[in-house]
Amino acid sequence: SKGAYPTFMLKEIDEQPAVMRRISQEYLTTSGQPQIEPKLLQTLAQADRLYFVAAGTSYHASLVGKRLFEKYTQIPAEVGVASEFGYHWPILSQQPVFIFLSQSGETADSRQVLIEAKRRHLPTLVITNVANSTLARESDYSLVLHAGPEIAVASTKAYTAQIAVEAVLAKALGEYLAIPAALAWDLQMQLSLAANGMATLVDDKQGWADLAANFLGASQDAFYLGRGIDYDVSLEAALKLKEISYVHTEGFAAGELKHGTIALIEQDVPVITFITERTTASHTRGNVQEVLARGAQVLVIASEACQQATDQIVLPELTPELMPLLTGVCGQLLAYYATLQRGLNVDQPRNLAKSVTVE
Ligand code: M6R
Repeated sequence: SKGAYPTFMLKEIDEQPAVMRRISQEYLTTSGQPQIEPKLLQTLAQADRLYFVAAGTSYHASLVGKRLFEKYTQIPAEVGVASEFGYHWPILSQQPVFIFLSQSGETADSRQVLIEAKRRHLPTLVITNVANSTLARESDYSLVLHAGPEIAVASTKAYTAQIAVEAVLAKALGEYLAIPAALAWDLQMQLSLAANGMATLVDDKQGWADLAANFLGASQDAFYLGRGIDYDVSLEAALKLKEISYVHTEGFAAGELKHGTIALIEQDVPVITFITERTTASHTRGNVQEVLARGAQVLVIASEACQQATDQIVLPELTPELMPLLTGVCGQLLAYYATLQRGLNVDQPRNLAKSVTVE
C-alpha cells in the first residue's frame, strides 16, 4: 500500500536510502566483504566478455554496469537493448556470459534473448527484483535486488538497486580476480554515503517542486546532457521525464550538441546538465555556455569536485561510476514534480504497462 503517500512513485523514490542500506546488509559482511555464491564467481571469472541485455530503465542501469565491471574486473562488457539484440545477435566472443537486468523478471524482449542464450549453452545470470519471476527461474543464476515491490510504472528504486547490486558483483568478481582497484574499493562506505546523499535529496521536496516549476513549468521539450557516466544518467532522466510528464525529452552526449542537437536549442528551452566527471567537466561547461548563448534555461547538477558558484544542485562525491545513485534520484524528482504540476497520473501514465510481456 501507499501508506501516507499520495502516489507509489513518491513512496518508491523515498525508499531508496533504505534500499541502499538493505543491499549493503544483504550482500556485504559486517566487515564489508561481498557475499556472492562461489560458483557464480567461477563462471563469471571465465568470461572473456560480459553481455548485458535489458530494456528501458534496466538497460540504462546496464550501461552503468558496463563501466563498473570494466573498471573493477577488467573484463570487457557490451550492453544491448533486448528488443534489438534478440533480432540482431552480434558475433560473440569465445567465452561470453550473459547478464540480464529486469526489475519484473517478466520482460518478453529480455526473455527471448535468454532463451536463445540457453539454446546456445551460454551461461546466464539474471539480476531482478522478483525472486520467483520467469527470468529468475529460467536462468542459471539469479541475484535479487531487495528493493521491495515496485508498483509505479516509472522505475525508480529498481534502477538504483540494480546499480548497487552490480557494484557488489563487480567488487566480488574483481576481488576474486585479484584486481587491485576492486581490493582497494570501500563499497560499504560508498553505499552508506549514497544512502545519506539520497536522503538529503528526497528530504528537500519543496526544493525539487520549485526547480521543476521554474525549469520545466511550461515546456513542451527538454534536454538532458552529460558525458560518460553523466551521459548514461541523462538517458535515464530523459526516459523518466518523458514517460510520465509527456514532455518531449532527449538525453544526449554533451559532445554531440554541435553535431546536430544544438539546432533545437532556442529561447527558454530547458537544458538539464549533469557534471560529475572531473575529466570531462571543462568540456561540458563549454557546452553549457553554448546553449546559454542561445537562450536556454540551464539547470546544472554537479558533484562537489566539479561545482561552480552558479550550479543549482551540488552532490556529495562518490566513486565516479556510482554517481547515478544520486544524479538518477535528481532526474526522478524532477520528473515526479513536473508531472504532478501538469495534473497527470504519475503512477499510471498513458499507453504503458508495468511489465511488458509481449515482444
Ligand atoms: O521489468 P523490467 O526491468 O525488465 O522492465 C524494463 C522496462 O520495461 C522498464 O524499465 C520501463 O522502461 C519503465 N517504465 C521505465 O521507467
